[in-house]
Amino acid sequence: MKAEIAVMTAENIDRKAIARGGEILKNGGLVAFPTETVYGLGGNALDPKASMKIYAAKGRPSDNPLIVHIADIRDLDKIVTEVPEKARVLAEKYWPGPLTMILPKADIVPKETTGGLDSVAVRFPSDPIAQELILAAGGYVAAPSANTSGRPSPTTAGHVAEDLGEAIDMIIDGGQVNIGLESTIVDFTEDIPVVLRPGYISLEMLRETLGDVRMDKGLIKPDSKVHPKAPGMKYRHYAPKADLAIVEGSTEGVIAEIEKRAGEAEEKGLTVGIIATDETKGRYSHGIVKSIGSREQEETIAHHLYEVLRDFDSCNVSAIYSEAFFTPRMGQAIMNRLLKAAGHKIINVEEEKENDSTGM
Ligand code: TXA
Ligand code: MG
Repeated sequence: MKAEIAVMTAENIDRKAIARGGEILKNGGLVAFPTETVYGLGGNALDPKASMKIYAAKGRPSDNPLIVHIADIRDLDKIVTEVPEKARVLAEKYWPGPLTMILPKADIVPKETTGGLDSVAVRFPSDPIAQELILAAGGYVAAPSANTSGRPSPTTAGHVAEDLGEAIDMIIDGGQVNIGLESTIVDFTEDIPVVLRPGYISLEMLRETLGDVRMDKGLIKPDSKVHPKAPGMKYRHYAPKADLAIVEGSTEGVIAEIEKRAGEAEEKGLTVGIIATDETKGRYSHGIVKSIGSREQEETIAHHLYEVLRDFDSCNVSAIYSEAFFTPRMGQAIMNRLLKAAGHKIINVEEEKENDSTGM
């Protein structure tokens, strides 16, 4: 089976195709669709069989819960038993948008959708195509990112087709997504809200609205014994075919270190990949250099991260070195994804000079 592909834009929505997608979802089928963060793989959230199909199509462990997408704030009360005041305030401020909230689930939501948990993740996306599809499907669409488990999340319909084109019924192609990283997840099942996954909405923005907000312990010290509370955050999301390492330090130190390693590889007849920025790409003389975006506009870095990682999989490189991107607002989210892709391999140039002990 090959997925039917429907191309449209947010300004010019193909209503017939949306109606067809809605029917497919109501009948238990799977439809991939754009959101403002990444493409989602949708199934009817209230149908346990549809959720099982999603896990199978992605090759995802079924203990890793799905996010239920809604397109009308009034639909929230049917799928949760309680909405704490702080969650209401946050929803008012950031919905529709790149925010997912964890709330106690109502019985109508099957355990298959929540990976066996008593809580449910809910998101109201701002993408008009996503909203129309959700409404056409009856209001509740479970959707993880539309990639094969272990690959970077898709930011174009082409990425979705590459991974899932043979496994699902329909792909709605709404062009390249806007943000490029998955939504911020905030857990409201404890007294103090906890960030389970950083995203476009930063910890600082959340604290501005809510006051006290914690970061999940499993995210702060990824190598410790504390498991992240979002089951999906414990998996190494994406292992590029070539080894990926992040090089951290002053701009000059980082460029010199990557140049040295790329030069050494070249002498051995190997090629390395380099993830640079618009500001630095001209400074490298070895390797295959790809600019991820501009440090002056950090959204561009978030926007291209997954695409660049996917691109390097089709290049024959022996290793990939990436500059670090601790940018002011989205740095937490960008580095969270990049560190996971690198299996937390980070080379600190300044430290290395002192004790030369990174073992890289
Ligand atoms: O931006 C997004 O959120 C995208 C688009 C498609 O909306 N979706 C997405 O879904 O990133 P997914 O399945 O790739 O990531 C969902 C994350 C996983 O880490 C999962 O473990 C966590 O949310 N999660 C879902 N339900 C949860 C719950 N009840 N408690 C804790 N974590 C939960
Ligand atoms: Mg995902």
